[in-house]
Amino acid sequence: MTNLKFPKNFLWGGALAANQVEGAWNVGGKGLSVADMATYKPDVDNKDYSAHMAITSESVAIAAADTTDKFFPKRRGIDFYHRYPEDLAFFAEMGFKTLRVSIAWSRLFPTGEELEPNEEGVSFYDSMFKEMKRLSIEPIVTLSHYEMPLALSLKYNGWVERRVVDDFVRFSEVCFDRFGKYVKYWLTFNEIDSIFRHPFTTAGIIEDKCEEGKYESDIYQALHHQFVASAMVTKSAHEIIEGSQVGCMLTKLMTYPLTCAPLDVELTLKKNLENNFYADVQVNGEYPKLILKDMANKGIQIKFEENDLTILKENTVDYLSFSYYMSMTESGDPNAERTPGNTVLGVKNPYLPSTEWGWQIDPKGLKISLIELYDRYNIPLMIVENGMGAVDILKDGTVKDDYRIKYFKEHFKQMKEAIDEGVDLIGYTSWGPIDLVSAGTSQMSKRYGFIYVDADDEGNGTYDRFRKESFYWYREVIETNGESLYK
Ligand code: BG6
Repeated sequence: MTNLKFPKNFLWGGALAANQVEGAWNVGGKGLSVADMATYKPDVDNKDYSAHMAITSESVAIAAADTTDKFFPKRRGIDFYHRYPEDLAFFAEMGFKTLRVSIAWSRLFPTGEELEPNEEGVSFYDSMFKEMKRLSIEPIVTLSHYEMPLALSLKYNGWVERRVVDDFVRFSEVCFDRFGKYVKYWLTFNEIDSIFRHPFTTAGIIEDKCEEGKYESDIYQALHHQFVASAMVTKSAHEIIEGSQVGCMLTKLMTYPLTCAPLDVELTLKKNLENNFYADVQVNGEYPKLILKDMANKGIQIKFEENDLTILKENTVDYLSFSYYMSMTESGDPNAERTPGNTVLGVKNPYLPSTEWGWQIDPKGLKISLIELYDRYNIPLMIVENGMGAVDILKDGTVKDDYRIKYFKEHFKQMKEAIDEGVDLIGYTSWGPIDLVSAGTSQMSKRYGFIYVDADDEGNGTYDRFRKESFYWYREVIETNGESLYK
């Protein structure tokens, strides 16, 4: 009889990012981060990311001068900073084996350039990891999840300048020294590929600070610095923490050809190659030849320092993690209808349903991604983000979120099929197991959680927590290690 269970010790859990949950943006010695500049703009179409992400030196200066959290939901988060014991207890009640969190760089190094960490920040994370240990929840920790110190962005245009590599290595080594006793699994950069989609959020780059005509090449240079920094801290983690496992993290943007017209297939191939480029560098330890040629064709020349090639080659990652929310298609027809995905616009797939935010729901695409990535890289995989943003209605102390249960159920079954076909998938963390502030639109009303947080887009509400119906459903999935999916 077929085994309906996931592999023994499968890491079931959820994923958070400091800047979307902690709040306490100016508490405990924390410095300003790029995330603290993100505004909620009720007047713009919530599907229009470019409007939400538009950043200029002037807009940043205005935001930085504002000492309130009125238009800045990420400054409020869901008050996880103060409520984490309650939230961790919920996760333990669901039976979480793991929880992915990130460490806010500016809580440890307020401007990024201090030589010693802010002890109050260290002590916050120490208490959080201690509590996770007590609850037997294995942490997976992202070092950089869209929250670099603002000061580094303003002074050096973020990762464009090489010296930021040293600042990041210093921050990371403090994390390894102080939290290595709790944390085995690390991730370096969240969705490292996103640097081209939102350079400020990912790498502190403000376009008007780049020399005329140099914006694109500055982004490539900043990306190179992140690749090198990632490899350097992979080395440090291995030296400082025995048995540590360091992964890269990719936004998996699965693209299909809209039709079998060769042009559609060619454009699709190129999209998928571009999407894999980042993992190619971090898993194989070198730039793919086609990408180097593409950069040369665009006239882009990255500055490599003497040892960069060796650093990349010798310090590749132990596992590959990725986010997966949706898929899209590509077409040679410039008039093909497009729909939003995760900070992208893709050609609409006529075979798939969409969320209220237009993201196309595609469980089979997750299985295809797993097979493709495992075949290409041959290292363990982890899905560290997946889920659907939805408008939830709280009624009688709960939310009837059967749409969410359906989404997860279909994705989990596809994961199981991929595992049965040989993919080494070691863990799964759903995005936002508790409602949190959206990265793309700064909304609270775009909810992902199994736990409802009573707060709206303007920050009104008690911030009390409520179990949704999916809470009990996911608990059973974890308890039965997947078997309940088939009953
Ligand atoms: C991922 C990010 O790209 O997508 C998360 O790593 C983000 O930080 C998630 O929250 C979902 O996107 P959004 O815009 O719905 O919050």
